[in-house]
Parts: sequence; structure tokens; C-alpha cells
Amino acid sequence: MAISLTKFIYPYFIVPGKNIKDKINSFPGFYRFSIDRLIKEIRQINELGLNKVLLFGIPKYKDNSGSSAYGENNIVVSALKEIKAEFPDLVVITDVCLCAYTRHGHCGILQAGKKAIDKKATLEALAKIALAHAQAGADWVAPSAMAEGQVLAIRNVLDKYGYAKTKILGYSAKFNSNFYGPFRQAAHSAPAFGDRSAYQLDYRDTQNALKKIEEDIDYGADMVMVKPALSYLDIIKQAKQEFKFPLVAYNVSGEYALVKYGVKAKIFDEKKAVNEIVTAIARAGADYIITYHAKDIAQWIKRENYSI
Ligand code: PBG
Repeated sequence: MAISLTKFIYPYFIVPGKNIKDKINSFPGFYRFSIDRLIKEIRQINELGLNKVLLFGIPKYKDNSGSSAYGENNIVVSALKEIKAEFPDLVVITDVCLCAYTRHGHCGILQAGKKAIDKKATLEALAKIALAHAQAGADWVAPSAMAEGQVLAIRNVLDKYGYAKTKILGYSAKFNSNFYGPFRQAAHSAPAFGDRSAYQLDYRDTQNALKKIEEDIDYGADMVMVKPALSYLDIIKQAKQEFKFPLVAYNVSGEYALVKYGVKAKIFDEKKAVNEIVTAIARAGADYIITYHAKDIAQWIKRENYSI
């Protein structure tokens, strides 16, 4: 089974400022980039044959309504404009969520004085974020807040404002996983209290995960996702078999970090292990794989006798 580099989606973390390439401690090989440095980075991976990126914004200011996620001078909007001007053919995907923008670190807006999500306010905010991204040139918007009805709310607003062609990648089956640690450090997005079990899925429950995928397909998603990937290959396979719908798997930060730390401890060979991992995810049925390994893979293919 040969996996084309165009099946990979490579994530980036973007911060305001200039000339910033800020190392993330628990996340080997990953940085927070300012837009100018990001452009240079993207040029490099694009030349290596990768053509899809996923952008995560890390704002300077947080508040309770996540206003910097959709306000003017929003970091993702600014990045999108510059990236699309420089690389018109690159497929640029944006994460649509509130956790990095809210002071409490939850993925939605909370009910006044309470610890529960305010559904209506959250859907409105997510739709506003997605519209701002579409207007700035996003090819796919990817809502990851696990707010019920988020795909429908975003589809409606995009269609209303003339962005029928902007695709929606639903993070449909996103589990309440232990493997998001390095990402939360990167995005400063760990919840300040509690956890995400009220809105992310229970990993014991297959039926609910399949139901969420079906819901997003009905609501107008162009692609659906299973996240994480490695402990969920069965879900990927069942989703593909049952729905025969474009499917993305997210090989998350903790899964990636395990490989990097294992390599550091010399318990396996990185190139072989990564080969086995991405092959397994594709074999299970993923059409696209979001993975932090993508740049390494592209470099090995370019410089060495390596194939996947
Ligand atoms: C939440 C979000 C998360 C990731 C992407 N978007 C994690 C979370 O629930 O905190 C994790 C991705 C990764 O670990 O690589 N909006």
C-alpha cells in the first residue's frame, strides 16, 4: 500500500509577533511560529511535497467569550491571508474552537456563573470563527469543540454568506483522550477546571461515536474525523465500512510524542516505527491523516531511499 504525501495534513501553531520560533518543551520538534517564520516553514514543506496544513492560533489575550478567535486582527485570519497570497494552491485547514481563546480553557462559552457550556452562545461563536476563516481564504474549516450541531451551524452561516465551496471537516468522533498533553501545552489550552468529559466522547462507547459521525454527515460535513487514531483503529475501520464517506484520522500529539521519546530511549527505529504507524492508520480506512510526523516522512522520502 503506497501512501501519497498529499494524504498527510501537517499542523502548525501560530503566535502574534515577528521572527518567533518558540520551542515547545513537551513536544519534540514542534514550535510556535510567528507568521513571517511560518511562511518560510511552509515553503520548505511545500517543496518537500506536502500540500495540506492545519492551523491552530494561539492568541495573546484570552477572555470568557473567546473574542480574539473572531475579532479583527485575529491571528489565524492574518496568517490565512498571507499564506494564501504566497501559496494559492496549498490546502489550508483551520481549527475552529474556543479552548485556546477562553480564559477557562474549555472548548465553548460557559453559562453565566456556571461550569456548563452555553450551547447557543457556543454555536454562534463557532459559526463566527468559521465565517472569518472562510472570508480570509480557508479551504476547509475544522470545528473541534464537540458542540452539538456545530457542523450544521457552520454550514448554514457559510452558505448564507456565499461560502458554499468552503469545506467542513467535522471532528465528529473526538474522544476524551489521555493523549492530548503536548498539544495543550503548545496551545496553552488545558481546561482551568474539570475536564472535557461533558462534550468529548467516552472511549468505551463505540455506538455513540458512530452516531456522532452519522450526525455530522447528515448535518452537511464534507469529511468526518476520528481522533485520536492509534487507540481507535477499530472506530476508523467501522466508520469507513459503515458510511463510505471521506474520513480523516488525527494521529495526535501524545501519540507522536511517545514515538519521539521511544526513539530517544533507543527502543525502536523511528523511520520503521513511523512507517508502521501511518500504514496502520491508512489500512484501517483513513483517507487523510493529520500527523506531526508528516514533515519527517517527506524529508526521508526526499533524501533517502524511503517509501511508505
Ligand atoms: C481542542 C483540540 C485538541 C486537539 C486539537 N484541538 C485537544 C483538546 O481537546 O484539548 C488535540 C490535538 C493533539 O493532541 O494533537 N480544540
